[in-house]
Amino acid sequence: MSSNSWKSFLTGCWAKSVENSATSPRKLQCSSSSDISNSSAPFSPEDLSLTLAGSNLHVFTIGELKAVTRNFSMTNFIGSGGFGPVYKGYIDDKLRPGLKEPHVAVKSLDLDGLQGHREWLAEVIFLGQLRHPHLVKLIGYCCEDEHRMLVYEYMPRGSLENHLFKRLLASLPWSTRLKIAVGAAKGLAFLHEAEKPVIYRDFKASNILLDSDYTVKLSDFGLAKDGPQGDNTHVTTRVMGTRGYAAPEYVLTGHLTAKSDVYSFGVVLLELLAGRRCVDKTRPNRQKNLVDWARPYLNNSDKISRVMDPNLDGQYSSKGAQKAAAIAYKCLSHNPKSRPNMTTVVETLEPLLNLSDVPVGSFVYVAPTERVAEDTKAEKLDTETEEKHHGHHNRDRRHKQRFPNSVIHSEVTLHRDGNSLYRNSHFRRSLRQNQERGA
Ligand SMILES: Nc1ncnc2c1ncn2[C@@H]1O[C@H](COP(=O)(O)OP(=O)(O)OP(=O)(O)O)[C@@H](O)[C@H]1O
Ligand SMILES: [Mg+2]
Repeated sequence: MSSNSWKSFLTGCWAKSVENSATSPRKLQCSSSSDISNSSAPFSPEDLSLTLAGSNLHVFTIGELKAVTRNFSMTNFIGSGGFGPVYKGYIDDKLRPGLKEPHVAVKSLDLDGLQGHREWLAEVIFLGQLRHPHLVKLIGYCCEDEHRMLVYEYMPRGSLENHLFKRLLASLPWSTRLKIAVGAAKGLAFLHEAEKPVIYRDFKASNILLDSDYTVKLSDFGLAKDGPQGDNTHVTTRVMGTRGYAAPEYVLTGHLTAKSDVYSFGVVLLELLAGRRCVDKTRPNRQKNLVDWARPYLNNSDKISRVMDPNLDGQYSSKGAQKAAAIAYKCLSHNPKSRPNMTTVVETLEPLLNLSDVPVGSFVYVAPTERVAEDTKAEKLDTETEEKHHGHHNRDRRHKQRFPNSVIHSEVTLHRDGNSLYRNSHFRRSLRQNQERGA
């Protein structure tokens, strides 16, 4: 992390706007990104570029980003989330000479949303300062007129959500799942152990991006919060996050701690083991909520195989699965104090990468019909090449049985403000989310 602490960094930023505008004393109290995002005070692009002067972020114009993304063309469109659409782009050496990552992802704020500026600002401020191998790199931003954009390093394999749950991609092998779990745990541990700890608050499969070799990079710091300061045990916030991933005590009380992230990590670890979404309305009642369904099996080594993803075809280390399930069980504890911290999680999971009891080639050799040849090829493609190939007929069939409607997102964003709890469909998330995020 940068030597700038959050407090001095952000206080500095506010001090300047206070000096310039002779505003109320209330603003002098602002000392964190949370305060900035909760304040209704104006924040000019000039303030921002001065504030971020030491962070090496590039400031782009809208014209430049149009050129980078071929005018935000559909051929460059990657996907869309609560913030707005994301486009692939290429930054020419002439535009920014010497840029290490010419391939970028440009996330553009949906202008129909009302309060997205706050998430945009939080993202710029957190990611502008934080650098770690397991956090996605923010290359720059655009803040021109009403436009708000974020320019990230491009992650060629997209999100973990796509790999685990979208039927077009081949199933992730065990070792890759473990590598992802360890990388994500390290990213969270870094945030929690920072000089000024940060609570990520939106840990979920879609925010875990994957590099070409499946190295994890956490993205989306729009909901991130500074951790509790001084003697405080928690931060009190409006409840925001994603249904299924948010810790139950946080949803109930709005009390946010690093252990809320640990719970969300437990959910993702369970998704990695089971290959199932944490909320899946297409399943029978008892199985709709993954955590509730799987919890009794997780600390029972005889029953853990019931949880494991059938698409793994049994090709995983039993010892590793047991240990991973046991730590997931602890992370998912109802009592936040019983959850381990992320450093302990890393220390538990990392050695599992070295376990060699993965049954490789335990299947019986069958004469090479076309189908077998295709399956074998797809097995290799899992780890080594572009994952657009999907020759696994058997897996595909099983997957179709398990996800008859898998293009529909079951994920729902939670926003609780006062007494009301809103559930928004993934599709309409952007507009409502931004409305609800208003102060
Ligand atoms: N740096 C990046 N490189 C490559 N793809 C990216 C990058 N950032 C985001 N994406 C992709 O863009 C799409 C939208 O991402 P985004 O984070 O906006 O939404 P989300 O994570 O699906 O939902 P949410 O708004 O809840 O975070 C996803 O498919 C994601 O994988
Ligand atoms: Mg995201």
